[in-house]
Amino acid sequence: MQRLAPALREDNVPLDLISLIKTILAATKEISFRVSQAQLGDIMGSTSDENIQGEVQKKLDVVANDLFKDILLESGFVKAISSEEEDTSVAGEKDGKYLVSFDPLDGSSNIDINSLIGTIFSIHEAPSDMDASDPDMFKQAGHKQVCAGYVLYGPSTMLVMTTGRGTHFYVLDRTHGGYILVERNVQVPVDTQEFAINMSNQRFWQPAMQNYIGDLLAGDTGPRGKNFNMRWIAAMVGDIHRVLCRGGIFTYPTDSKNAKQPYKLRLMYEANPMAFLLEQAGALAMTSEGRIMDIEPTDIHQRVEVIMGSKNEVEACLSYYK
Ligand code: AHG
Ligand code: MN
Ligand code: MN
Repeated sequence: MQRLAPALREDNVPLDLISLIKTILAATKEISFRVSQAQLGDIMGSTSDENIQGEVQKKLDVVANDLFKDILLESGFVKAISSEEEDTSVAGEKDGKYLVSFDPLDGSSNIDINSLIGTIFSIHEAPSDMDASDPDMFKQAGHKQVCAGYVLYGPSTMLVMTTGRGTHFYVLDRTHGGYILVERNVQVPVDTQEFAINMSNQRFWQPAMQNYIGDLLAGDTGPRGKNFNMRWIAAMVGDIHRVLCRGGIFTYPTDSKNAKQPYKLRLMYEANPMAFLLEQAGALAMTSEGRIMDIEPTDIHQRVEVIMGSKNEVEACLSYYK
């Protein structure tokens, strides 16, 4: 077991990026503490505000967002930040080398029931020729990320991170307050018998997804010839963590529930960072039309279809779209 900074140096991560990562992690340690305080701190329940996504903000969404924003903008390492909870990007240091996108609190509906929640982050290099206040700096494909990760505020606080040299697991050691490497180069099994999807949307899916899930449900009496189990944590961090630990397929497919919003998950704050982590662990991260990390973003808040996880199962799902 190794501490975070030596582990990153072993992966040849540049020193300024290590410093930025440590800054991000300082905020996660504070959030982890606040989460553990529950009703003892002022973090439960909702605010009266809506975010740019049209979702009611929970108190913890706002607390976590402010913590991240303040610590990152004060650090001097970032040229700008972009958050699911901010209307547009926020300028930092004009010579800052990096851009950080984040979902400060993923799984908001789990906050008030003491269930899994997390923080997701993604780092790109900042273009040197653009103004720090220009949100177009963030319109970079996922394959250009230099680091992505999430922190899971579960029974233990875990960091899962990649800098493009494998995906590694760390646990927050509260005895000294640092993240300790516990598993290097996680590999997602290529086959699985577990799927994660919000089944309540079934009637709104496209025929391809209806048929695919129908065949999984048919189990060993259907064309797949094996039984499948279903899990849904309602926090992408939790569902993707399970996929990284033991395989599985996670999808939030296109649906027709709301004609103006055919996709639920956000490209910059959720899909791209998870795609980077999964691909670095030998898994796939796709839409029904191609690789998530090849999408050229047109809007920092854009949403996207997501089909990700164990390689053979994602390919099986995509074959229904052909
Ligand atoms: P957020 O809490 O950041 O808004 O994200 C919630 C997302 C994602 O984490 C999860 O997989 C999905 O929304 C849950 O969707 P349902 O409400 O359909 O279960
Ligand atoms: Mn989220
Ligand atoms: Mn969120």
